[in-house]
Amino acid sequence: MTSPSDPLAARFAGKVILITGATSGIGAAIARRCLAEGASVVCADHAEDAAVNLVEELGSRALAVRCDVTDGRSMERVLDTVRGRFGRLDGLVHNAAAPSLDGTVVDLSEEQWRRELDVSLTGAFLAAKFALPLMISGGGGSVVLIASQFAHVATGKAVAYCAAKAGLVHLAKAMAVDHAGEGIRVNSLSPGAVATPRLLQRWPDLEAADRQLGPAHLLGRIAQPDEIATATAFLLSADASFVTGTDLLVDGGYAVR
Ligand SMILES: NC(=O)c1ccc[n+]([C@@H]2O[C@H](COP(=O)([O-])OP(=O)(O)OC[C@H]3O[C@@H](n4cnc5c(N)ncnc54)[C@H](O)[C@@H]3O)[C@@H](O)[C@H]2O)c1
Repeated sequence: MTSPSDPLAARFAGKVILITGATSGIGAAIARRCLAEGASVVCADHAEDAAVNLVEELGSRALAVRCDVTDGRSMERVLDTVRGRFGRLDGLVHNAAAPSLDGTVVDLSEEQWRRELDVSLTGAFLAAKFALPLMISGGGGSVVLIASQFAHVATGKAVAYCAAKAGLVHLAKAMAVDHAGEGIRVNSLSPGAVATPRLLQRWPDLEAADRQLGPAHLLGRIAQPDEIATATAFLLSADASFVTGTDLLVDGGYAVR
């Protein structure tokens, strides 16, 4: 945890950062990290109770906003709230993802395919569509799209997830081209397996997930959420002032081989 005497403590002082899918796992870790470094954080999630609980834990610089990232009107309302409350936005992290859906192109339903792409990819489009004007009016900012190691290497029975995450990596590059002149940096970040509630959809506990998934990573283990949060904070911060249009793999070496 960053202590008040830590030189990083003020890295986001006076900054406002919006995080989608912020109430669980990686998103909540990013919220905690940004707050610890001085930011005001807007936690946007469709899990309302979890958002309120998180904000009660995080304190007065955190704001919970209920949203559905697949719905443009919902995201527009989120940004209206951010504008009204803070009048500025310096960082956007699109982290929301639908629950894991297993399937090949043959057995995944059309509805499941659309849901995955809607939350990951259309969600990124809508969050950026309504966030960028506020960021640009304040002189610029940083956008981070949370992708996956499966944007780089494929895995079985996850066609929609692999396609959506690869799409996010290239969406970040395309947005970086369009908005560099307006002071906006856009990058994606690709985690390897991370110990979050998401893994409990497939494994009985995180230790079992680590035993099964850890060896596929060069470092021999899965990540803790804060290891993804610190890398995200780097991309959000002025420390990454010359970094745009790239993907940061934070995957413990998963995609090397
Ligand atoms: N955990 C991993 O092993 C891992 C690995 C690589 C990439 N990732 C990516 O990291 C991100 C976070 O993963 P996590 O493990 O913390 O996931 P998680 O499932 O714990 O959290 C996802 C969050 O997104 C929210 N969400 C889902 N649909 C939404 C919608 N329509 N509108 C608003 N919010 C919505 C959920 O309520 C939840 O808070 C995801 O994009 C995931 O694909 C995770």
